[in-house]
Amino acid sequence: MTHAAPAPLSIDDLRRARAAARCGHTIEYFDTLESTNTTAAAHARAGASEGTVVIAETQTRGRGRLGRAWVSPPFRNLYLSIVLRPAIPPGDAPRLALVAGLATADAVAEWAPRVALKWPNDVLVDNRKVAGILTEMDADGDHVRFVIAGIGVNLNGTLDDFPAELRDKAGSLAMAVGAPIDRVAFAARVLSCLEARYARFLAHGFAALRSEWNARSCLQGRQVQIDDGGQRHRGIVSGVADDGALCLRDAAGHDVRIVAGEVTVVDGYQRG
Ligand code: BTN
Repeated sequence: MTHAAPAPLSIDDLRRARAAARCGHTIEYFDTLESTNTTAAAHARAGASEGTVVIAETQTRGRGRLGRAWVSPPFRNLYLSIVLRPAIPPGDAPRLALVAGLATADAVAEWAPRVALKWPNDVLVDNRKVAGILTEMDADGDHVRFVIAGIGVNLNGTLDDFPAELRDKAGSLAMAVGAPIDRVAFAARVLSCLEARYARFLAHGFAALRSEWNARSCLQGRQVQIDDGGQRHRGIVSGVADDGALCLRDAAGHDVRIVAGEVTVVDGYQRG
């Protein structure tokens, strides 16, 4: 597949679609940023209201989880960050990454129903990562000032966009469906899915989203290994808990809760 023609996003269409919404009532649009998360945080510090969105056509220092870079070629994909101001304890804020991951999977499902979530918040299609979430919090004691939810979705990229070491793991939605993806339609959809999931989270907590999260998980019942800063755990995944932790049953029959780390599926993703 060839790259989509390098056309800028029709930002006026996206702004019109979200003008009256909670998520996306204000959309700041840039050609190039270091990172939309950094700019959204600066806007939040300067008083930007909940639901303000920052989008860039390309990022020069796009950030992923665990200090990784997020590959951000221009005009093909979606690099979006949103300012959230939830009235929740700071300790609950990491659950927002799962909420944003579920919302992103909801949007991806409209193009590729076989979408899957890999804890904590990778979005996969056909075992390739097409989207990732990076949430960053600013808190003062027990008060959350804001959370930036950064969403990166590989929409129209090809494998040459990725460094060689990612080419068997990463992909794009267009590669999965075999047709170009309308970036405005996708961005509008992901914001409306986020609005719905976020409202439910605020009203009822992550517990209200847990079973839908688990239903989309590619890890349910799988044998996994988790590397968590020096500690290694192995077990069969029983699911994500009400607080967002990944729960495993280890070989000794003990239940283990994982709150951070990198998951590897020991037996691969495909069931035999
Ligand atoms: C990951 O899976 O490692 C998280 C990737 C998050 C990437 C997005 S792109 C928009 C926002 N700006 C960033 O610098 N990162 C997030």
